Amino acid sequence: MSFPHLSEVLKILDGALRSNATMSTNYAGLLADKLEQDGEREIAIRIRERLARAPTAVAHAQDAAGLIGGLPVDSESRLDTLDISKPPKGSVHLCLPGGTAKRIDEFLQCVKHYDRLRNAHAAMPLRMLLYGAPGTGKTQSARWIASELGLPLLTARCDTLVSSLLGQTSKNLRRIFDYVEQRPCVLFLDEFDALASARGNERDIGELQRVVIALLQNIDALSDNTVLLAASNHEKLLDPAVWRRFPFQLPLPLPDAVLRKEMWESMLGSYAPDSLDWHTLTVKSAGATGALIEQVSLDAKRHAVLDGRAVVDDGELFRRLSLSFALVQGHSPASLSDEIAWLRQWDAKIFSLRELARLYNVSTRQINHFVQGEHGNAGKPTRKRGAQGH
Ligand SMILES: Nc1ncnc2c1ncn2[C@@H]1O[C@H](COP(=O)(O)OP(=O)(O)OP(=O)(O)O)[C@@H](O)[C@H]1O
Ligand SMILES: [Mg+2]
Repeated sequence: MSFPHLSEVLKILDGALRSNATMSTNYAGLLADKLEQDGEREIAIRIRERLARAPTAVAHAQDAAGLIGGLPVDSESRLDTLDISKPPKGSVHLCLPGGTAKRIDEFLQCVKHYDRLRNAHAAMPLRMLLYGAPGTGKTQSARWIASELGLPLLTARCDTLVSSLLGQTSKNLRRIFDYVEQRPCVLFLDEFDALASARGNERDIGELQRVVIALLQNIDALSDNTVLLAASNHEKLLDPAVWRRFPFQLPLPLPDAVLRKEMWESMLGSYAPDSLDWHTLTVKSAGATGALIEQVSLDAKRHAVLDGRAVVDDGELFRRLSLSFALVQGHSPASLSDEIAWLRQWDAKIFSLRELARLYNVSTRQINHFVQGEHGNAGKPTRKRGAQGH
């Protein structure tokens, strides 16, 4: 026979045995929430009433768990080593390919039904490694998972963590993991490859390795039902010792055409003009990450608002997309003629002479001179509006 919510009951007991009222009250609160979701409203109310009668000191501890204060700090720098947020359910927008979304959903199911799975001896530690190019949505996915679970997201950046721990005892690290263990939350280790590069770094190798090993040991010591996410841009740097610790592994690919269209639609929202050629926009943004699409959409929207328009200008949107690709490819047009030359070679059909003249607010003849390199200084177009560089 299975006992529902055994995890929470055991955590409440752990808290009591360790004289840790924060831990007990945090998990009692979670137990009440879960019972309420199961339709056991009366019992949930009784638990909450009991919690409300907790002594003031404990109530304050609960406030800390409510994410106001009490974060573990680095004992020397006094800087917070954990960043804390609680994205509300439905507030995080995430576009992922069907297969990827399904795997995240499976992970969520494993978290939600952990006790049932454990009773069937089928539970796995709730640890997922997200990996993929910068801007593909790793951090966004972590926020989404936390929001779906209704849990706070506690983010530690491994690069700062490792360097802040050099020359320190492992006490700081222990503090973070103690803090995490005391409350229902999602621990997110961002920039996880910092661990891998630390392992290969020759400078301070002994010291770095000590920190890295301590970090891995702390991960091992976490309860299996603590939700742990880690993100890496350089999965090839991660060694098998790291991979082994994550039963769930999720590659985040660049968005395909269907997803790019979805992203443009949602990120432009009501700012998309009726005349917009979605097909061309989708095709021309091949290779873009979600971050780039978001950036271009925001830029174009800002431009529209400042220009007093309710929708973005199609040509301006393509111009900003094209210039963002230039930057990504390490090409930053230094002058207006460079910029125009880049746009022409990117797509001479979208950026016809007439369209360029409109966008840069100069005559077609001037653009023509410009393109053909026939202009002297006198022929240099003067921009009257918009077209700020990136
Ligand atoms: N798949 C996606 N769905 C929705 N938004 C996305 C997606 N990918 C990226 N974004 C948007 O781009 C921005 C950057 O994404 P995010 O921070 O998640 O990237 P990342 O993979 O963590 O990058 P990095 O490796 O640089 O940390 C976010 O603000 C998010 O809104
Ligand atoms: Mg990130």
